[in-house]
Amino acid sequence: MKPVAAGNALLSCFTVGAAAAAASVPSFDHDLRIPTSYESAVLGRRILALTPLGTLATVFPHAKESDGIAPLERRPPGLDGLPYSLMEYIADCEEDGLGNPTILAITIGTTFKNAAAGSNVSLAVQWTPPHPPAKRIEGKKTKKAKKRSWLSYLGWGDDVKEGHHKHGRHHHDYHSAALPYSAANLPRFSLLGHLEPIEGGDDRDGHVASCYVKSHPDAKYWLPGNRIHQAHFVRLVVDQVYWVGGFGDRAFIGWIPVEEWQRVTREEWQNARLPGEKKGWKEWSVAGDL
Ligand SMILES: *[C@@H]1O[C@H](CO)[C@@H](O)[C@H](O)[C@H]1NC(C)=O
Repeated sequence: MKPVAAGNALLSCFTVGAAAAAASVPSFDHDLRIPTSYESAVLGRRILALTPLGTLATVFPHAKESDGIAPLERRPPGLDGLPYSLMEYIADCEEDGLGNPTILAITIGTTFKNAAAGSNVSLAVQWTPPHPPAKRIEGKKTKKAKKRSWLSYLGWGDDVKEGHHKHGRHHHDYHSAALPYSAANLPRFSLLGHLEPIEGGDDRDGHVASCYVKSHPDAKYWLPGNRIHQAHFVRLVVDQVYWVGGFGDRAFIGWIPVEEWQRVTREEWQNARLPGEKKGWKEWSVAGDL
């Protein structure tokens, strides 16, 4: 494979989507140009709108702020100032269109305790194509997984013996968990900022709740006012945006000015397309294959 040709082809992956969206860019050579930060913001806003999960990072407070929490939870000593990140449900539910993610904060969760103690946050979001590529850069086919008991994942279940017998523990194919595409080549970003309550957002029949439940039907059980946990809708106020669009020879990598992130319109991100949104895409795609 000729890397140069492949590079140009892949660049077009990103620019096709961006070009559709960025009507403000009158003309460009879609084979040769790295997307601008604004075009990347358009793609990022589409990713935010289409992606239900992110990884939210906070920092553990210093001793004074965590007084009372630590003994209650049997927290180990030495957490002060350490970062902590975990998967969270995210959505894009605010009507102001500024691209501040919507999160249902469960007060008892460590992330939200850290935020309540004053931590800033960072939310990592990655683009996961809904379809595997028809043709991928490299890699082998993996066997279809058999339905297994959770215990077998720990090496405790009955079906483990069979597996060991067949394949032998030491010859386990760790590559079976490989992604069906080159994830390094796909866009991802980190939104840096802080959490704040959405005023009036906790109305279970309101816009925020109904939008959120559309993305996360199971979350209807822990909406604000549920009997088990204290929950509140919060927004991640985006203060900074760091973007990695893919390989650096064809994608923008760097800080996106927050004004650009906020300026992207719904129409722009709705018209954009990301790699792998359509079936039959190829990782070394040429323009129009998306
Ligand atoms: C959070 O970030 C802001 C900058 O946006 C900074 O001024 C503030 O000190 C940070 N808060 C903490 C607790 O580190």
